[in-house]
Amino acid sequence: DDPGKLVPRPPVVTIMGHVDHGKTSLLDVIRKTRVTEGEAGGITQHIGAYHVETEKGVIAFLDTPGHEAFSAMRSRGAKVTDIVVLVVAADDGVMPQTVEAINHSKASGVPIIVAVNKMDKPGADPDRVQRELSEHGLMSEAWGGDAIFVMVSAKEGSGIDELLEMILLQAEILELKANPDKLASGHVVEAKLDSGRGPVATVLVQEGTLRAGDSIVCGMHYGKIRVLQDDLSRTVESAGPSMPVEIVGLSGVPMAGDELVALADEKDARQVSQHRTQK
Ligand code: GTP
Ligand code: NA
Ligand code: MG
Repeated sequence: DDPGKLVPRPPVVTIMGHVDHGKTSLLDVIRKTRVTEGEAGGITQHIGAYHVETEKGVIAFLDTPGHEAFSAMRSRGAKVTDIVVLVVAADDGVMPQTVEAINHSKASGVPIIVAVNKMDKPGADPDRVQRELSEHGLMSEAWGGDAIFVMVSAKEGSGIDELLEMILLQAEILELKANPDKLASGHVVEAKLDSGRGPVATVLVQEGTLRAGDSIVCGMHYGKIRVLQDDLSRTVESAGPSMPVEIVGLSGVPMAGDELVALADEKDARQVSQHRTQK
């Protein structure tokens, strides 16, 4: 069908890497907030989905715990990531989840940008990281390959501008486009049952624009969007392509990787979801 008017959209970047290599800390400096301090035990418990406005352009970030969510989405055919930023601690080097992240990215055909983090540490050994990654098919430009490596320190805030530049450069090459002028579609990044608000889902809008009041089908559930909130829990009227938003108003809790579609009216939404339940 006719995609209609396509306009450039922000890249969706998933941050992956071994436990404690600094994924959330990097996002903290990028967002200039303090997410890690508020985390129980410093461990990311769910996916954070963030909309970040840099001086050179907008980027959507997904911060994954382990890589369950990424693999759940991939196994269900949901492609939400344009670029993976692979975080490797310079003092720790390539670890099992680093390799897992490389394999996920390759299997989904998503380009990887390597962020060698913790460069401030006395034990930082970026040469070792480059050598170890080359053994997994990621050869840095310095080593004669074409993989983009950026040396960063989330602690000192160094290398962050370069990392953002590389992401936006890679996004330009990918020529990412979407049509904001139609009913929205996208995928669920995470969902939960909130004691006060009922089912709450974080969704990434990929096509069209999602609006408060829209009738939606999401996995096996349907509903009418009561509230749309951005990553800072601010109520927003709408969300366009590459925008992560939290939505309230679903009849049940969907799963990560479920597709979300907005429909012209509520009757359609209910029928589609009933049809899905019967399948
Ligand atoms: P999980 O979500 O649990 O997988 O961890 P993560 O990859 O998000 O790592 P996190 O940001 O929680 O950081 C882990 C630890 O490393 C924390 O104690 C951070 O303060 C520390 N850390 C992160 N980045 C740096 C850095 O650039 N330099 C130094 N010295 N420490 C860092
Ligand atoms: Na951590
Ligand atoms: Mg984390």
